[in-house]
Amino acid sequence: MKSVFFITGSSKGIGKALAEAILAENGKNYVVGISRSNSIKHERFDFVEADLSRDAEEVAIQIFKQYQPSEKAVLVNNAGTLGHTAYIGELDNKKIQQAFQLNITAPAVLMNEFIRAYDHGKVEPLILNISSGAGKYAVDGWSGYCASKSALDMLSHAAALEAGKKGSSLKVFSISPGVVDTEMQSEIRSTDQKDFSRVQYFQQLKKEGGLASPEAVAGQILKLINNPDSFEGVLQDVREF
Ligand SMILES: NC(=O)c1ccc[n+]([C@@H]2O[C@H](COP(=O)([O-])OP(=O)(O)OC[C@H]3O[C@@H](n4cnc5c(N)ncnc54)[C@H](OP(=O)(O)O)[C@@H]3O)[C@@H](O)[C@H]2O)c1
Repeated sequence: MKSVFFITGSSKGIGKALAEAILAENGKNYVVGISRSNSIKHERFDFVEADLSRDAEEVAIQIFKQYQPSEKAVLVNNAGTLGHTAYIGELDNKKIQQAFQLNITAPAVLMNEFIRAYDHGKVEPLILNISSGAGKYAVDGWSGYCASKSALDMLSHAAALEAGKKGSSLKVFSISPGVVDTEMQSEIRSTDQKDFSRVQYFQQLKKEGGLASPEAVAGQILKLINNPDSFEGVLQDVREF
């Protein structure tokens, strides 16, 4: 096995498109998808069924031991949720916790075990965290989403800084994918205006055909995977590639 790609949230949307693009690109790539359901069947694809808002530590401890690539090990923390869209003071406390578990705790725990397993100088380790523009500015109704994506950006910065201090070849990026035509966007468009003032903007954007396809975004992310040295800085936006 030359290269192995661990992708969370591989069952649909951006994660699925990226998994399929990686499998199609090179006959030596192996993909391990982690989500609650699966929709990919391929001889070089393994599925790990897990709810990462609950089982991230167990998954992280188990999966990396099982794969020993000779060239590249890549972790894509892509699974994410908007969480409960409503103003603070009206949120469900359980949903707050589940969203933070999935959006920031799971990526942190997976990065910890991934670095322990692969940052030993024998393979090229690469971590891509799928973040959002909403981690860079506040959006009403999305407090947990904004805060967890902002934390994901800082986690990525700290990991990249530590890699530099250690003289490791590990590369870490936090990537904004733009507005992408996935189930997450249909959820956004169906929000009540009182819980999220920008709902009409997203409805209009869909009507005007302003959303990128998951396949196009996967193609942009592949550019970074194949050429990480040509990307400067931790925070990246696929619309600028
Ligand atoms: N779409 C956009 O416009 C947009 C914009 C900015 C950032 N993003 C980010 O891009 C990433 C992918 O989003 P998307 O639009 O492709 O979303 P999506 O279509 O809703 O897909 C989300 C993926 O995450 C998985 N997932 C959700 N909850 C999970 C859980 N508890 N445990 C394990 N897996 C779980 C889902 O699989 P299962 O349901 O099978 O578990 C699915 O494969 C997210 O991090 C999102 O924040 C998206």
